[in-house]
Amino acid sequence: MRYIVSILLIGAAIGAAAFGMLGLQGKLSRKPPLELFPDMDRQAKLRPQEPNHFFASGVSSQLPPAGTIARSEAIQTAGGPVYGFEDSPVNSGRVAGTTNFVEINPLAVTAELLQRGRDRFDIYCAPCHGRLGDGNGITKKIGVMAAVANLHDKRIVELTDGEIFNTVSNGKGVMGAAGPLLPVEDRWAVIAYLRGLQLSWLGTTNDLTAAQAAGLK
Ligand code: HEC
Repeated sequence: MRYIVSILLIGAAIGAAAFGMLGLQGKLSRKPPLELFPDMDRQAKLRPQEPNHFFASGVSSQLPPAGTIARSEAIQTAGGPVYGFEDSPVNSGRVAGTTNFVEINPLAVTAELLQRGRDRFDIYCAPCHGRLGDGNGITKKIGVMAAVANLHDKRIVELTDGEIFNTVSNGKGVMGAAGPLLPVEDRWAVIAYLRGLQLSWLGTTNDLTAAQAAGLK
């Protein structure tokens, strides 16, 4: 007798479960479905651009507080504005979609950019590389850095701008990354200035005009 009751009960349970899962399939209902774990399906929230009386302005979307600094502002280049999230040589120093470094600074090298580059170089690079870029900065003098690269070495002069951008952004060997210190535009400014520094060391009397050469003793 007890077995029969158990079997009936188990049968009823299986039947109820089957009906629960399959029973009303295909039927339309206006009632919300049973939600055992509603998680965050339903929540109190403000929809953007809707009237809302919680705020004094009466709308749900609020303007950023005065003085807010945009996290991502486009950098203006000859090829149009470039945002920080884009796969662009400006952000990576590499030809888009490849791992090849770009040869040349993707920003237009203006007097303003060079000035900015000099300013940043003297702050962020000179302590190790020296203001001349020859590797004789204060950190070498006081003995914190043993060997700092001389940026006028032929090998470094011959690096592509993209590779230097990568070194500045991510660091190399004992040189730390300047990426967190220098926004992308400043990094390119520093590179433009560094090229100027290198050029100043590569000058020969052949670069002078005849009049200038004549004035040389
Ligand atoms: C804390 C000291 C320090 C600072 C600051 C620093 N560097 Fe360096 N840098 C080094 C050292 C050391 C090396 C040699 C790294 C190695 O090859 O292990 C180096 C190497 C380099 C190289 C050669 C990379 C190569 O491929 O061999 C470049 C280019 C360079 N630095 C540029 C810069 C620029 C531009 C800045 C400023 C944004 C800067 N560094 C700031 C210490 C520094």
